[in-house]
Amino acid sequence: MENKISIAIDGPAAAGKSTVAKIVAEKLSYIYIDTGAMYRALTYKAIINQLDLEDEAALLDTLLSTDIELKPSNKGQLVFLDNLDVTDLIRSAEVTNSVSYVARQPKVRQEMVKRQQAFATVGGVVMDGRDIGTHVLPNAEVKIFLLASVEERAERRHTENLEKGFPSDLEKLKEEIAKRDKIDSEREVAPLKKASDAIEIDTTSLSIPDVVEKIMTLVNERIG
Ligand code: CDP
Ligand code: CDP
Repeated sequence: MENKISIAIDGPAAAGKSTVAKIVAEKLSYIYIDTGAMYRALTYKAIINQLDLEDEAALLDTLLSTDIELKPSNKGQLVFLDNLDVTDLIRSAEVTNSVSYVARQPKVRQEMVKRQQAFATVGGVVMDGRDIGTHVLPNAEVKIFLLASVEERAERRHTENLEKGFPSDLEKLKEEIAKRDKIDSEREVAPLKKASDAIEIDTTSLSIPDVVEKIMTLVNERIG
């Protein structure tokens, strides 16, 4: 019988987590869960509702009455916030530059982790984020920590923006990515950190297929 496992993929911004996680999930017919999209969706709602982004009680209150759904589609994973498709809205620069303040609130994280763990109970899951190997799925059979230099990560986002028709300032992107990494790594609860049993892959000079192949090798070793 097929042995369905859990795969945790963590790492800093634009390391390639969601791109490779999606491909690995497709190859295995597993579900893919983008936990960053959940923090982004809450941040989007908090901005719309003009909440103080560091008011933990107000954020938790909002989250508890908010439905966040991740739905696979042929266009990739769609994100629904209270039944509204916010897939593109949550990628705005405003959300990107605010999300780490929301995500560092301990009670917000507690509720998010509870929801993420519930999504994973079906088995056969690839989940990406910052604390998946350390907190959300500490028993995941395969744990990956993706890295790349900040210059390379900023270049990747820059190229992505150009392809979408939204040119960006490379230096500014680099600063924003470094700032977000710093807040994510230095927060008190579940900071961005490699789990002690995670395999680190530096993707700076690797292509997407190279990274996928490395992860699939580790997965195949595990599922036999
Ligand atoms: O795709 P990108 O790397 O830009 O970010 P993301 O995965 O969409 O995550 C957005 C933000 O959510 C991160 O910068 C973290 O502040 C937060 N996050 C988190 O704290 N824990 C997670 N498991 C996932 C994301
Ligand atoms: O999810 P995360 O923020 O870690 O990164 P991503 O959104 O998957 O990847 C950021 C960008 O880097 C995407 O445009 C990918 O196509 C690209 N990428 C790459 O060029 N080389 C890799 N080895 C991985 C991702």
